[in-house]
Amino acid sequence: MNVILITGGAGYIGSHTCVELQERGFDVLVLDNLCNSHAESLNRVEQITGGNVRFIEGDIRDRSLLAQIFQNNAISCVVHFAGLKAVSESCELPLAYYENNVSGTITLCQTMADNGVRNLVFSSSATVYGNPASLPITEDFPLSATNPYGRSKLVIEEILADLHKADSRWNIALLRYFNPVGAHPSGLMGEDPNGIPNNLMPCVSQVAIGKRKILNVFGNDYPTSDGTGVRDYIHVQDLACGHICAIQRLDKNCGIQAWNLGVGQGHSVLDMVRAFEKVSEQPIPYEVVARRPGDIAACYADPSKARNDLGWVAKKSLEDMVSDVWRWQSQNPNGYYG
Ligand code: NAD
Ligand code: WQD
Repeated sequence: MNVILITGGAGYIGSHTCVELQERGFDVLVLDNLCNSHAESLNRVEQITGGNVRFIEGDIRDRSLLAQIFQNNAISCVVHFAGLKAVSESCELPLAYYENNVSGTITLCQTMADNGVRNLVFSSSATVYGNPASLPITEDFPLSATNPYGRSKLVIEEILADLHKADSRWNIALLRYFNPVGAHPSGLMGEDPNGIPNNLMPCVSQVAIGKRKILNVFGNDYPTSDGTGVRDYIHVQDLACGHICAIQRLDKNCGIQAWNLGVGQGHSVLDMVRAFEKVSEQPIPYEVVARRPGDIAACYADPSKARNDLGWVAKKSLEDMVSDVWRWQSQNPNGYYG
């Protein structure tokens, strides 16, 4: 059977995608250097699916390792999650971000081409829309970047477009994720950020469990319903299913296409706090502080292109997202090695 190579498969979204792939009978091979994850996530994938996950610890920039992997496996498609993703860190270490994300993707694509593999699902981000002029966001909105992380995603999208222009045999899905949250409903897998989390949901759940005392709410003077930032939070399991639909679409020669993966509905920071308090039955003390530099007021998707082309819709509710995060957080207060 053909193999799906999952770069970054030990990470948050990658590991959830491995579960969905394994459960549908795909043969999965994970390549991850574990720079932001633990191999334990893959043990959990095995526990959930009852199947075996083949794992190679290594780097997408390691050309000879990649060549070996492609020579030894009948890979039909690559789902490419591997990358660095922290916005603030990318401002401090821009070269590390371009090196890892952009150079890594180039090495990967070169090796794919050398081995006649031209089906790629790429993890892009709603960050490529910059500060959108209106909402909801459709895929044809103008693209821009406000930080090196976002620029790395934008540059990769452009490189992949050039690649397809030069060789139309490539089939490339640019999946633009909105705000991934949630965890596997089993409580066995979830987001396990290193150090102080940057994103809202891990911060909220760490306050609920008592690991952090208070949530900083970055501004309440945005032009939104309650003044706090509005985002399109999407359950990681829905997101994972979007990758299955994209893989199936690549088989029908889709060329290069971008798809928004979002719910299509915005929730404010305070909506998230209230939803979490309700599910966890814990108070979430918060303090309004200054706006975080680079943040935008509101961002949510028009996901109808994914619905029409891929037959994909997000099914999980906000309550599902929050209760699954809470189950993961309370069962694994210190993450995978808690
Ligand atoms: P993550 O950090 O949990 O997963 C990324 C994985 O890639 C990690 O396991 C890491 O060890 C691995 N990795 C990084 N560089 C590597 C390299 N050079 N070689 C091999 N492995 C490497 O992040 P995630 O949240 O699962 O994100 C997955 C992808 O989705 C990333 O490309 C990210 O930019 C993108 N994305 C994430 C979000 C989000 O909010 N989580 C939103 C939009 C897009
Ligand atoms: C959500 C809302 C914050 C933390 C980032 C990246 C984006 C993508 C997803 C990868 C905002 C507010 C947050 C906190 C807060 N990643 N907030 N207190 O900024 O929409 O997107 O992650 O591609 O590129 O920029 O997500 O979860 O950080 O913030 O008030 O402690 O929560 O201001 O309104 P964001 P987030």
